[in-house]
Amino acid sequence: MSYNLLEGKKGIIFGALDENSIAWQTALRVHEEGGSFVLTNAPVAMRMGAIQSLADQTNTQVIPADATSVEDLEQLIDQAMEILGGKLDFVLHSIGMSVNVRKGRTYTDQNHDWTSKGWDVSAVSFHKLMQTLYKKDAMNEWGSIVALSYMAAQRVFPDYNDMADNKAYLESIARSFGYFFGRDKKVRVNTISQSPTPTTAGKGVKGFDGFISYAEKMSPLGNATALDCANYTVSLFSDLTKRVTLQNLYNDGGFSNMGVSDAVMELFEQQQDE
Ligand SMILES: NC(=O)c1ccc[n+]([C@@H]2O[C@H](COP(=O)([O-])OP(=O)(O)OC[C@H]3O[C@@H](n4cnc5c(N)ncnc54)[C@H](O)[C@@H]3O)[C@@H](O)[C@H]2O)c1
Repeated sequence: MSYNLLEGKKGIIFGALDENSIAWQTALRVHEEGGSFVLTNAPVAMRMGAIQSLADQTNTQVIPADATSVEDLEQLIDQAMEILGGKLDFVLHSIGMSVNVRKGRTYTDQNHDWTSKGWDVSAVSFHKLMQTLYKKDAMNEWGSIVALSYMAAQRVFPDYNDMADNKAYLESIARSFGYFFGRDKKVRVNTISQSPTPTTAGKGVKGFDGFISYAEKMSPLGNATALDCANYTVSLFSDLTKRVTLQNLYNDGGFSNMGVSDAVMELFEQQQDE
């Protein structure tokens, strides 16, 4: 259902790789709500080709950019403003990657060159993006910037590996840059801390199937889907949340405030009886 919440608003959406991606679902919902945007992803992701079909569906263009390259970000933002005909109202940073996770190196056996790479892609790219937007004065007043996080920033999930540290850093950047963006440009900056979601990045985490079903059983409302996350993001891009900023907002069916649930307890007790 559409509420025209984003009528006339313009933005950039990072990170739509395939239809499972949170950014993909967000692009579809933003389009339905009347927003216009350009899509972007790393040049290497372009080769997979799927993003063009999303661009066709949402009547837009794709501009490749490596989010760790300030030069790429500068070009992207200039081109986006040209295509959209003015400054931006919303930006979604939906980017994450850990080389250690990909290559199966555990938290206690990291290759620190890979750690730096993953930190740059997953966290520092958010600072680079906001600094570029800020310096170019590319955001309209009362605009909204959202990045995606995970609860491993606050609590221990051993297999989430160095991504836990990257997410803690990402959330801190949202607060620190959010102050300056709010003070100087009246732009809000938030992170959404999302349930485990079956995407390429999500499924890359060791033990993901156990992870997602445990969270499902722990959460009174069950796991939030990619579409749920898209809807939450739409609300944060809309004028209905104008003074929500510097927040890390949980979209997780209640998981983050749970200790234990009946469903998990039952499984545990069953196992003990066996
Ligand atoms: N899937 C989950 O369980 C889950 C849970 C909480 C938060 N998140 C976060 O949601 C965000 C989106 O991930 P997703 O789950 O939709 O997975 P996804 O794999 O579909 O998206 C990750 C995206 O990051 C892009 N990317 C990687 N390196 C890049 C670079 N250098 N420049 C530009 N883009 C680059 C990839 O091409 C891809 O499109 C990530 O920040 C992720 O950590 C995911």
